[in-house]
Amino acid sequence: MVFYFTATGNSLYAAKYFSDAPLSIPQVMRGTQRQFSDDAIGIVCPVYAGEPPKMVKEFLRESSFQADYFYFILTYGFDQTDAPEFTARLAAEAGVHADYIASILMVDNYLPMFDMAVEIAMDKHVEEQLTTAVQAVSERVHGIPEAAEEGRKLHAQVAAMNREQPAFNDGSQITVLDSCIGCGVCQSVCPVGNFYLEGGKARRKQTTCEFCLACAQNCPQKAIGLSMADKNPGARYRNPHISLQEIIQANANS
Ligand SMILES: Cc1cc2nc3c(=O)[nH]c(=O)nc-3n(C[C@H](O)[C@H](O)[C@H](O)COP(=O)(O)O)c2cc1C
Repeated sequence: MVFYFTATGNSLYAAKYFSDAPLSIPQVMRGTQRQFSDDAIGIVCPVYAGEPPKMVKEFLRESSFQADYFYFILTYGFDQTDAPEFTARLAAEAGVHADYIASILMVDNYLPMFDMAVEIAMDKHVEEQLTTAVQAVSERVHGIPEAAEEGRKLHAQVAAMNREQPAFNDGSQITVLDSCIGCGVCQSVCPVGNFYLEGGKARRKQTTCEFCLACAQNCPQKAIGLSMADKNPGARYRNPHISLQEIIQANANS
């Protein structure tokens, strides 16, 4: 049993290495089932500021798992800081013992800091990393990589900054541009249902936001922007092996 959270497809692409039918965490969270049992259970998700996304934390806290082997696959783009050991601690607080955690370096989809065109052009040897992790999971390897002290420090700094930035939590950094044609893709890819259509345009509710950037990255018109600096407003990313339809299936409230 493999659960995943994704905005731009990296984590779904990774999850598919571990299961033919991975389960979307946003969809699971819309249902009532919170007890899961299997020989091995895995969670595949991105690293956001050194941590799993808010919804993944909520899923961990609200669920009870019975498994002989529990693992996390964390996808990240540049610097995972101390994400594996932090995630292991988080899981322990939720009553889950993490046996194994691997981090997979992929395209960094954080628009304020990275130019998607530059990121897409880089070869991060994703397939090799995933093959190694699949082998480790199939051999039931145990191990949580220990972070370097700088990683722990950087994570603490970023976490403190984020606490002072409600914009990352309410979506107020996300703007619908005049070029919006009201196609509704943002509404369908948002894991928390933060968009609606009005007068032929997308509108954003002022509610909880994961700041996953699925709306901006998947908009066919590039009509969702950021009110903070965006490295390259003309470049957007979705994992080339994952279709828009798969992101919609993962996140849409249907
Ligand atoms: C809000 C946000 C914060 C991020 N923080 C980090 C980070 O701290 N370290 C890092 O290496 N990558 C970071 N990333 C990049 C993602 O973890 C990475 O691109 C991930 O593979 C995206 O997964 P997805 O395609 O499944 O959504 C961040 C991305 C977003 C949107």
